Amino acid sequence: MDLTLTPEHEALVAMVREFAARDVKPIAAQLDREARFPKELVATMGQLGLMGIEVPVELGGSGLDPIAYVLAMEEVSAACASTGVIMSVNNSLVCDPLLKFADEAQKQRWLVPLASGERLGCFMLSEPEAGSDAAAQKTTATPDGDGWVIDGTKNWITNGPQADTGILFCMTDRAAGHRGISAFIIDMNAPGVRRGHKDDKLGIRGSHSSQIMFDEHRVGREQLLGKVGEGFKIAMATLDCGRIGIAAQALGIARAAFEAAAGYACVRRTFGKRVVDHQAIGFQLADMETELEAARLLTLRAAAMKHAGQRHSRESAMAKLYASEVANRLAKAAIQIHGGNGYVTEFPVERHYRDAKITEIYEGTSEIQRVVIAADLLRA
Ligand code: CAA
Repeated sequence: MDLTLTPEHEALVAMVREFAARDVKPIAAQLDREARFPKELVATMGQLGLMGIEVPVELGGSGLDPIAYVLAMEEVSAACASTGVIMSVNNSLVCDPLLKFADEAQKQRWLVPLASGERLGCFMLSEPEAGSDAAAQKTTATPDGDGWVIDGTKNWITNGPQADTGILFCMTDRAAGHRGISAFIIDMNAPGVRRGHKDDKLGIRGSHSSQIMFDEHRVGREQLLGKVGEGFKIAMATLDCGRIGIAAQALGIARAAFEAAAGYACVRRTFGKRVVDHQAIGFQLADMETELEAARLLTLRAAAMKHAGQRHSRESAMAKLYASEVANRLAKAAIQIHGGNGYVTEFPVERHYRDAKITEIYEGTSEIQRVVIAADLLRA
């Protein structure tokens, strides 16, 4: 598989790296400290074409490929993991399923403003009692005239407090199990949609999540995404792509932790020499860089397979599983290399450590990634 970057990829990386260094990294610690949603960064990302990277230009996006998406996600997330996930949800969990499953009228109405960054999206699958077991949906859509009435509660919805548009999964036929789940496009400001308080989280504190409550919320037939009963497959196919985005976010966090640790080890002195000159630390940095590169290759391979139109459930799960575990290992090692300075907020590595944890949980825990990989191995 050829993973050589094109001149277009190189130009994108240069542009995003500049944006991340100028606008994102300088305020990342403040966003974390104040748990503040970076509205201004989201607006700039829209102007830079980062909110609908793979959406064709004529539909408001940048018309780039999945590799470009991974490269941009790594750059933004290395500067601020909160900003990274806001971008990732809009790109892979909202624009992607609309691009694949929406009809032409739906694309014009919903996708164009999302891909151009005019509106922000959220993905509503999880419920208080349906996280890993995504088919155990309790939210219902009951037929009513030429549409449905929706009732129920969604949980941990990233971008929930700010989103204008959402993709909702719920039961249209409980007796049919996962084949009774359908997907709908939701106007988040319409009557019968209520947002809960934002969650108080360990990490990615600049990205907000909340419950979303549906109380006799009415949707028309034109808001059905795909066909009735196709919702679970739409959710699973969407997560196959979303997991590439989270792998790239984890890669960004891991890189930031590695760079901070390597930089610190080169200036801090103990026992008459630089910390990096103690072989124990030099070897640790060598292992960190090797793991980082392996995670990057797995992530780029999953993106290349998506680009080639190949099934990539297993490869996305492997990329997300490995990159998220690398992010956690590297962030922990970065704190250790910093010693006492790693434990205080004056240095960025304690934030990377807190931000890394969620990448082993959302869009499928590490255990769920192993379920997906094992099931695919048995199928082969
Ligand atoms: N693509 C298309 N169809 C798929 C598929 C895929 N990748 N994976 C499964 N399916 C289909 C199967 O073929 C099967 O189809 P049939 O109707 O023909 O039988 C159907 O879906 C059911 O498949 P399973 O029997 O494998 O389903 P399951 O109930 O055992 O669940 C699971 C499988 C992998 C555990 C799934 O429940 C899962 O992924 N859980 C984790 C959910 C998750 O990742 N949630 C994240 C929420 S979003 C989020 O986190 C966003 C955020 O904050 C950033």
